[in-house]
Amino acid sequence: MPSPFLIVAIDGGAASGKSSTSRALSERFDFLHADTGSYYRAVTAELLRRGVATGSVDAVRAALGTLALSTRVEGRSARMEIGGRIVPEAEIRSPAVNAAVSHFAAIPEVRAALLAYQRGQAEVARERGFRGLVMEGRDIGSVIFPDADFRFFLHADPEERARRRAREGQTDSIAERDRLDTSRKTAPLTCPPGAIDIDSTFMTLDEVVNRITGMLATRLSPVA
Ligand code: DC
Repeated sequence: MPSPFLIVAIDGGAASGKSSTSRALSERFDFLHADTGSYYRAVTAELLRRGVATGSVDAVRAALGTLALSTRVEGRSARMEIGGRIVPEAEIRSPAVNAAVSHFAAIPEVRAALLAYQRGQAEVARERGFRGLVMEGRDIGSVIFPDADFRFFLHADPEERARRRAREGQTDSIAERDRLDTSRKTAPLTCPPGAIDIDSTFMTLDEVVNRITGMLATRLSPVA
């Protein structure tokens, strides 16, 4: 029997461990890894660079039509290109982007502009011969891939999440971003019905990855 192509959705709040977990799963199962937070961040950095304010929806709408989004696969990571350029990590993790990203992400036009792009990553993964796609974000299991083979929702205590960001040397408005991401009207951060909820506050990264690996392994053998 041919191996199935798996789509795995990992949602959760800021610094809940989504990225480290998703990256580790992409290695274990040879999946393409798509960090959709980095897509919202790249778009935010580009809009800020063009001087577009979060409040001016008309300007946002006009700019969205000219972004020219494409994907570059680096290793197992799907990176967003805007006009053929990858926005550098330092820029997408900057305090200015941290402060603005949830505001842009709450604008329905911004989410609509990224919807087809995100769904298209499954095709990119298939074309490149990956055994599946692991996509992390806020609304992957609820909106982008509600029929994903596996949907997980990671929780962690806010103080533990602040410690994790501090260990990474970052200042981030975690509580404020979570408040905005949870309360927005379009595709809010939520654990959708049927998703598997994991509280990682007292778990190591390995423990989280092992637990998820055990579930995925019922469908597909790990490669690493
Ligand atoms: O995962 P992250 O913290 O890098 O995400 C940055 C912001 O992007 C987050 O505060 C809200 C937004 N986002 C979103 O609205 N939907 C997603 N699927 C992913 C991120």
